[in-house]
Amino acid sequence: MQKLIIKGKRELSGKISISGSKNATLPILAATILAKHVSLKNIPLVKDIFTMVELLNFIGLKAEIIKKKNIIKIKNNEKNINTLAPYKLVKTMRAGVLVLGSLLTKYGKAKVSLPGGCAIGTRPVNLHLFALKKLGAKIKIKDGYIIAEAKKGLKGNTIKFSSISVGATENALLAASKAKGITILKNCAIEPEIIDLILFLKKLGLTINVKGRTITIKQSKIKSTKIVHNVIFDRIELGTYIIASALQAKKHMIIDKINPNLIKSEIKILRKIGVQIIKKRSSIIIKKNKKLKKINIATKPYPGFPTDLQAQLMVLLTQANGISKIREDIFENRFMHVPELKRMGADIEIKDKTAIIKGPTKLTGAEVMATDLRASVSLVLAGLVAENRTIINRIYHLERGYEFLERKLKRCRAEIKRI
Ligand code: EPZ
Repeated sequence: MQKLIIKGKRELSGKISISGSKNATLPILAATILAKHVSLKNIPLVKDIFTMVELLNFIGLKAEIIKKKNIIKIKNNEKNINTLAPYKLVKTMRAGVLVLGSLLTKYGKAKVSLPGGCAIGTRPVNLHLFALKKLGAKIKIKDGYIIAEAKKGLKGNTIKFSSISVGATENALLAASKAKGITILKNCAIEPEIIDLILFLKKLGLTINVKGRTITIKQSKIKSTKIVHNVIFDRIELGTYIIASALQAKKHMIIDKINPNLIKSEIKILRKIGVQIIKKRSSIIIKKNKKLKKINIATKPYPGFPTDLQAQLMVLLTQANGISKIREDIFENRFMHVPELKRMGADIEIKDKTAIIKGPTKLTGAEVMATDLRASVSLVLAGLVAENRTIINRIYHLERGYEFLERKLKRCRAEIKRI
């Protein structure tokens, strides 16, 4: 099994370019089932995207990744369509459940494996199913599969989610795309990745309006012409490298191919901690930190602070002066990096949903184990700032979501290698 070895305390300098967003590409790939011919640009070459492409091909689309150009070309010639998403593909990548909305609305039926729980929480899909039922789908669960039917097609309705869910909003949007009449979705997630999905659906010909957390979809004819779409940048990758820079920049670091306006709340919080950030139009400069300060925050749906940056922020706070608190409000089991960080010398205590971080602490290299994508990258950050050598096991989690992680860090003088 591969491992990452990081020699810490190397000062970083240079530029990092941010890749396309994994969490925007995945729902857009699910939406390509509705289209005829799509060219998706700026896609990240990461494992979850490869799995989703495999799923589309299993369904019967012709999806091909052009790695040199970070493009996926997808054609749907409507031959041999299989409205099934099998367990073997959905179990490794939960976003597989997003094909449910597209398949059901277009073909009137779908059989999709239940994704099951995962390391960060139970992650049910009740809100996805609630929305589909409201649109007229008949749904049963059998042998670990969601079996959905809408023989006469779906029908628009007003749907209010009891809590905010990214995936349920996406599945409902996809299902509503061919539903008769008007669908009004209330209490939606409005992450930039959802707005990018909406932009793609609009290119397909749909009329969609977003006002606050309400999304209205009007039945419209879906175009059969070729659609070209450029996926937005990965704001979580950006946040991760801002924190890496705040921890270890020699003088300053430049991060480009981004839109700083989409991470306003993250920038506000990082500045409060003392990170010096200069915003440009499509890049950001992070200066060597002086003194970092404690903070109390909670993770929230967008535009709040993202749960996907919680682990990385925690590493930063081990270097801040005073006692910081992070409450994890989205997932019930997303502190798995804490025992590993403690093995590296961090002083962190967990009380219910809150991590209490005492800083600053000197981190020292250790052999640690990655447990999920963001927990894994937090160990990379800790390795960069720690004394001596850190060995990170189970790095396949990182490959699910960080394109060229070692290459990007090495170019900025980090000492990191894979064995
Ligand atoms: C998306 O997951 C992201 N994944 C996650 O990123 C991210 O952490 C999460 O949104 C929150 O921002 C993708 O976009 C592919 P949710 P999703 O539905 O859609 C509960 C990463 O590291 N819930 O917004 O699965 C759920 O248990 C990943 O890149 C229900 O109760 O998240 C959770 O507590 C990990 N019933 C909360 O809502 C439901 O039917 C938010 O989950 C659905 C969700």
